[in-house]
Amino acid sequence: MVFPNLLSSGGTRIHFTQLPTFPACAALLGVVLLGAVLLVAGCEKETTTFIPTPGTVEQYQRYCSVCHSDKRTGAPLAGDRQAWDERVDKGMQIMMTSTIEGMGNMPPLGLCFECSRDEFEALINYMHAGDFEQ
Ligand code: HEC
Repeated sequence: MVFPNLLSSGGTRIHFTQLPTFPACAALLGVVLLGAVLLVAGCEKETTTFIPTPGTVEQYQRYCSVCHSDKRTGAPLAGDRQAWDERVDKGMQIMMTSTIEGMGNMPPLGLCFECSRDEFEALINYMHAGDFEQ
């Protein structure tokens, strides 16, 4: 099959007078820059702060802070993102198992016998990404 319109050389011509003028270019650049800024802001999302519920803060203070705010215990410190990043990379499931069963000097359940799985997950997220102003 032949496409006659592809063969014909008539076609549309580009009218250079229709190219965007300087203000239009500046506006376009502005939009592109704004996009770049939003992109960078979007990338920073990974380091957003975890906002805990008052209940999570209370449980943290009652059960976890004894060790997780004292580096002599060998526990990853609350708010020490780097220390937690490495552990969180293992996956929440594995973290949950070590929290429930204990690990090294960490006693089973971090001694919080009333904490549910969801509460442990919130506590872990809080210690990983909460705002502890260290
Ligand atoms: C008696 C001290 C102590 C208490 C209380 C404690 N932890 Fe820990 N925790 C540790 C220590 C020490 C480690 C590091 C263990 C290791 O790496 O061998 C640890 C590590 C962890 C880890 C990382 C586990 C992993 O797989 O890397 C999590 C999660 C954790 N604790 C959660 C909690 C939570 C939640 C609480 C409060 C409910 C809590 N801990 C209370 C001492 C404690």
